[in-house]
Formats: sequence, structure tokens, C-alpha cells
Amino acid sequence: MRSRLWKGLIFLSCLVLVGQKPVLGGEEMPGPQAPTGLRCEYLVNPLGIDTPAPRFSWVLEHSERGQGQSAYEIILASQADAATGDCWASGKVDSTDSVQVVYAGRGLAGGSSYYWKVRYWDKSGRPSPFSRVARFDTGLLVGDDWKGNWIGGKNQLRKEFELEKNVVRARAYVCGLGYCELRLNGRKVDRNVLDPAWTTYDKRALYVTYDVTRFLRPGKNAVAAMLGQGWFKSTALLFQMIIELEGGEKVEVVSNESWKGTGGPVVKDSVYNGETYDARLETPGWDKAGYDDGTWAAAELVGGPKGVLSAQMMPPIQVVDTIVPLILSNPKPGVTVYDLGQNFSGWARLRVRGPRGTAVKLRFAELVYNDGMINRENLRGARAEDVYILKGEGEEVWEPRFTYHGFRYVELTGYPGVPTISAIRGRVVHTAVEPVGSFACSKPVLNSLQRIIVWGQKTNLHSIPTDCCQRDERMGWMGDAQGTAEEAIYNFDMAAFYTNFLRDIRDVQDEKGTITDTVPHIWGSRPADPAWGTAYPLIAWYVYQYYGDQRILEDHYEGIKMYVEFLRSRAENGLVKFSHYGDWVAVEKPPGNIVSSFYYYYDVKILADMAAILGKETDAKTYGNLAAAIKTAFHREYFDPKTGSYANGTQTANALPLFLDLVPKSDRGAVWGNLFNDIVYKHDSHLTTGIIGTKYIMEFLTNSGASDLAYDIATKSTYPSWGYMIENGATTLWELWQLRQGPSMNSHNHPMFGSIGSWLYKALAGINLAPESVGFEKIRIAPQMVRDLRFAAGSTRTVRGEVSSSWSRDERSVRLEVVIPVGSEAEVIIPKFNIENVVIQESGRVVYDAQGYLAGSPGVQSVETAPSGFLIKVGSGRYAFELTGD
Ligand code: BGC
Repeated sequence: MRSRLWKGLIFLSCLVLVGQKPVLGGEEMPGPQAPTGLRCEYLVNPLGIDTPAPRFSWVLEHSERGQGQSAYEIILASQADAATGDCWASGKVDSTDSVQVVYAGRGLAGGSSYYWKVRYWDKSGRPSPFSRVARFDTGLLVGDDWKGNWIGGKNQLRKEFELEKNVVRARAYVCGLGYCELRLNGRKVDRNVLDPAWTTYDKRALYVTYDVTRFLRPGKNAVAAMLGQGWFKSTALLFQMIIELEGGEKVEVVSNESWKGTGGPVVKDSVYNGETYDARLETPGWDKAGYDDGTWAAAELVGGPKGVLSAQMMPPIQVVDTIVPLILSNPKPGVTVYDLGQNFSGWARLRVRGPRGTAVKLRFAELVYNDGMINRENLRGARAEDVYILKGEGEEVWEPRFTYHGFRYVELTGYPGVPTISAIRGRVVHTAVEPVGSFACSKPVLNSLQRIIVWGQKTNLHSIPTDCCQRDERMGWMGDAQGTAEEAIYNFDMAAFYTNFLRDIRDVQDEKGTITDTVPHIWGSRPADPAWGTAYPLIAWYVYQYYGDQRILEDHYEGIKMYVEFLRSRAENGLVKFSHYGDWVAVEKPPGNIVSSFYYYYDVKILADMAAILGKETDAKTYGNLAAAIKTAFHREYFDPKTGSYANGTQTANALPLFLDLVPKSDRGAVWGNLFNDIVYKHDSHLTTGIIGTKYIMEFLTNSGASDLAYDIATKSTYPSWGYMIENGATTLWELWQLRQGPSMNSHNHPMFGSIGSWLYKALAGINLAPESVGFEKIRIAPQMVRDLRFAAGSTRTVRGEVSSSWSRDERSVRLEVVIPVGSEAEVIIPKFNIENVVIQESGRVVYDAQGYLAGSPGVQSVETAPSGFLIKVGSGRYAFELTGD
């Protein structure tokens, strides 16, 4: 009997350990469950946080519907079990906040580890168990904590040191520019590649913190670093390792002239042009203790970057996936072309055996000619070519470190012997943001669209959002970034990434308030085209809206205000008209000035809203009035009463003012009518818009009851459309609506037309923030069940947990399943079509019939008829609705 009890208890605790919910007699334990998904500054157990008051979030778990948090308690300590709460014992705090909870304990020390856990009380006052313990590490918080010197002069640097006792804890703080691979005792210390992130080095460089405890041992040790040019176009290393030994003693190893350096096997490296690696120059054992570096030179002291050092607080770039080529061909003797079946960013891993000194060349391309040879015309100045020179010692496996390419095809020449499919693997490399979204529906072209959007988006995240990943740009073009931001947020966890990018934007701002077309600024102009510069207010606003992040508004309010004031200083007759690109790559272009004036209004309006949220009442009024004045000026300047259109009457020219409600009521019908006619009759439901108009047209159509038309546009397969790209073999979105493959500007992996991605989630799956709500605390599920679409399903993991909506329908019934996170509420809108005598059931219980709303299904608060169907209010939980009738 006793042993059975013990077995039972052990079983229960094993379940807890493997992270399953404890069950009693087959039922989940009722009530509030331990919070999960603990994050600090959006990151899971981050190292190197240099924010003095970091923020915490957790996901609430509960067995019942309609639940939420009424209070929380955080315990934060400097010991691993978090038990003492010596840094912060919040006590029971009455609050519904489970995201963006600001640290309020005693001052955090630099270079330290902290451990925390949280529990919550549900709406009925029942406490949950404590979460598991999460942790975070502070970086070197102040400049004086850095003791090393910037060293360089050589690509390979090393240093030996001795430790007398066992190591209890060790952290390495590293800024190795342009790129750095850190090795300890013969091993690479992390999976990160192409570290650190690209920044405006004159303003800021980022250091990375590694937990290196497990690499060190008593006795002799060696630290080694390989440096690449990256975007810094030079090399420099600042290194500091703090090692705590048994007994409490601390040892520091820092970069200085006592390090040794040599050239090493990477003989050439460039982001655009590729890497040349001569394996004959390898120095085996150089990254281990005991290597004889007598012939190596002393490391040189070099001038580091001019900017401040900050902790890298976002997901690193990593090799995220490995692709096996689909097929190989030999279009010419000695030339092998591999088709990886997917356009992506990264490189190829080579496997080869052959005589010493043989040079194998890999060239990368997005396209092939009809004869099967690679077509690299659209790479422009980027050579995109890696060379590996064999050492001739059996099988050699190599991949580059300090470059990346955008490609689908790899051409291999100079290969000794006959290359097989196993000679090449594709290595997918990008910032390892977590995928959080999924979307699928009954229309195949839209599933393909979702797929190519996601591939295009993730492979253009390289510590900044890039325009493309293959040719000689790969820049943080801000217009592209702002246009795709919402799509990216539905598909990936972008919170830390955009927090970093917004700081990058602020770093390029000058004292006049101007910012630049690209960030960091290499290409394009200062001041930015207003449709590009708007990335500053707009992305900040999206981060606030989707993640409930008020600190981002506080941090950037002054910068955004300066930017808006700069725009105001350039206004003519109350409108900003200067423009570099207008509605970029449109088929029928509106004049650039109307696009700039639209964004001037948008930016001012956002600034006024930010001011109101931050309690800056005078500013809220000033900018509110300014927005109203721009609205009037906009109509006066661009509206033509004779035609009922704005500017030249192109789709973008009419859609922009409709989207932001700049059209007086009296003229709305005419403008809307003109837009409709242009799309439907003049262009057979095709868009003629560029990257700007495209985003707003889809949203405007859906918000004004024309979802069917938006769907027609989205599912076209003739030029110009997304379907046309797919029909022509696109595996990522193109830069242009046109199919071009020559030397002109025509990248085949350009995420900017992916703005439609958020429309798939918002319109078809129906997942929306409720108006006026932020951080998915209030949600609106409003799927558009359009035309021949029979089902659609979407889900996205928000800061509060998963939100999902999936529906299907036939002639006389509609089924809709939704998931609302604990702590959130939703209004769910089910269209009724022309079904009569409607009965709505939820998980088999009738919640609505001829008498109206019927209470009885937990969590379902009300059911009302609404113009567009039925409006159902629900609390948190998982619901399965079915609407039937005659
Ligand atoms: C980039 C674009 C960018 C544009 C500016 C191009 O070369 O690739 O995506 O936004 O220039 O107009």
C-alpha cells in the first residue's frame, strides 16, 4: 500500500518535471496553474541584460474558462533556487499585469546572475503554484567595468591562462568586429554566427555575453578568437572573461598586447563577395592550451569603434536549418549546379576529398538560364563566391564564417572527382527569431503565399530587417521594414528584434531630427523619404500595440517628436511634399508628394496618440491640432472635385486618404467608387500599387466591408499579383510585380510585398487586437468568410499566450474554434450569411436560439446580433462554436 502511494507520488512529480500538467484521476488539477513562458526583456533566460530596471512577463495557465490574474508575486534572488528573494520580494501585488512588469527591487549589480519565479492569484483569489525558476544575467553595466584593450592586426588571436581551482561560474563579454567566432579550449562557445549585430559603430557597438563555465578547467586553458570584416570592414576585439573559482576567488582574462595573432586560413572575407579559406594555412591546436605560438606576432592595440558598448539583447544569428539539395545537374563539363529548391539566406557546407592545394569554387545564384547555368545578373556588384583550398587530408568538411549569400542555386567548379548530392548542403542562416504564427486555408494559392512570405521575411532578418539578402545591398531600408512589420509580428516573435532596431534608428538621428533611408546608414539619403522615415514612429507604435510596450514609447518619444518637428520644418502650405521614392515599384505611380503628405499626417497622429498615452497633455493637444490641420490641407491640395479622386486617381492616391479617414464624408462615396472601379473594371481585380499602397488597400477594403474584393485581389494568378509570382516558381517574394531576370533591379527575395501577410491573419483567420486595446488583452476574432473559401485557420503566440481562430463552413452551418489566453477577453464575430432560424452551440451547449442569448456555457458572456452577424463575448479559454439553421 505504502509503496503504491510512493509510486504514485513519483509519477506525479515526474509529470511535473517533464512539464506536463499534473492530473488527478484523469482530470487536470482544477484552478490556476503555475505560470509558464517566463521572460525578461522579451528573452528566455537571457545573458547580458544592461537595462537597469528590466521587465518581466509570464503566461497564465488555468483549467477554467473566463479566468485571469488579480494579483501576482515575484521572488527574485541572487541564488539559483530563487528562494530567498534577497533582491526583490514583491509581496502580493494587486494587478492584472502579466506582461511588462518592471523590476522594483534593489539595484542590480553588473556581471551577475539573478533567478526569479512568479505565482498569481486568479480572479477568484486562488493562488497558483510558483512557476519554475527562470534566470537572467546582467552584462557589464558601466563603461568602467571594461578592463581590456581593443586588439587586432590579425584575424586569429589567442591567449593562454592558468586556473588553480575548479570553476564555479564564468562569463565572457565579447565585442569582436566586424564578426567574431569565440573558441575556448578547442571548441566554439555557442551556436551564434555572424555576431555581433550590425550597428552604427560610431554610435554603438554590441557585445555578446557567453556562459563559458563548462569550457574551463583547472590548469592551462586557451581562449581564441577568429575575426571577420563584416560591416565594420576591419577587425577589432574587446574581450573580458570573469571567472569565479571554488572558494570565491575571481580571475579575469582580458584582451591586451599579451595576446598573440596570426593570419590564419581565412584569407579573404566580405559580406557581399564571399570567403576564401585556405585549409593549408590552418594551425591545428591553436585554440587549445599548449600550442606553440612562438612564431606568432604580438596582438596590436587598435582603435575600436567610437560608439558606446551595449549588451546585445535580441536573438542571435544562427544556422537555423540545413537543406538537402533537390537535384544536381551538369550544364557543362566540370560545372555542377545544385538546386536547393528554396531561395534563402546563408551558405553551403562543402564535403570534399582530394589533393592538397585544389581550389573548389562555389558561386551562388537565385536564378538559372535555360541551359541550366546559373544566372547572376541580378546580384549586381556582389560576387557571392566562396573558395575552399584543400589541405589534402582525407574528407574535408567546410563552411564559411564571415559572409552570407541569398540563393537557391549553388554552382560548384574545381571539385576533385565527381561531385554527388552529398557534396553540398544548404545552411539557412538568419536571426533566430522564434516562429510564433501559422496560417492555412482552403485556397492553395494563399497557403503558398504564406509560405513564401515567411521564407522571405525570416531570411531577411540579419540583426536588422534587410531589403534583400543576395545583391550588393542587404540594407536596413526603412520603407521595407515598416511595410512588413505587422506581418513579421504575426509570424515571429519580433519584440526584442524591433526594440533593438528602434534604438538603431535613434542612433542615426541627428540634432535636426533627421533620420535616414537605411539604418545603419549606408545607402539612400538623409533626410529619409517620409515613407521610409515613418518606420521610426510606426514600428514603435506597432511594438506598443502588439506587445503592450509603453516603455518603447517613453524611450523614443523625444526622438519621434524631433523627427516630426523636422518634418514640420519642411512643410509647404501645411504639407510635407519632398519625396525620393513615392509608392516604390508601383505599376501606376501616384505622385510622390501625396505619399509623403499621407505619412506626415500619420506620423503626427501617432505622435499625438503617444503623447496622450504618456500623459503629455500639451503635446497631445498641439499635435492633435496639427493633425487636424494637415487633414484639411491634404484634402484641399490633392482632391479634385471634378473627378472625385485624389491626385492622379491611381489606386494608391485614393486608397491612402480612405485608409486614414482623410476624406470628408460628402466625398467618400465618390472616392471609394473610383477606387472600386479602378480595381475591378479597369484592372480586373488586380493591384497597380507599389509597396506603400498595397498594404493599406488590403486593410481598407476589409475594414469597409469589401473583403470579397480583397480576396479576389489576393488570389489572382495573372500579372500583377502574388499568385503570378507563385505561378512563375517564386519560393520567396520578388521585389517587382514583373518577372525580370536581367541585370536590373529585380531581387527574387525581397520581403516588402509581404505586407499582405498580416491581412491573412487579420482578415481571413480573423485575429485582431480589439480597438483601443494593446498587447492582446482584448481581442477581436472576426474572420472574413469570403467567396469560395471553405476554411481558414490561424494562430499566433502573443505576449499573453496563444491566440487562435479556425473556422469552416458549408451551406447551412459555420464552425469556429477559438483560443483566448488566460487574462484576455474577446469579442467573436460569426457571420450569419443567409441562414435563418439560427441556433448557436458552444461545445454542444446551446448559447443562442430564437429567444436570444442563453447562459450556461462557461466563459460565454453574451451573444448579440450585430450588423455583420453575431457578436459573442467570451473570456479566456478554448471554445468550439457551431452556428446552424435553415
Ligand atoms: C531597395 C528597396 C528600397 C529602395 C528604396 C532599393 O534598392 O532594395 O527595397 O526600399 O531601394 O527605394
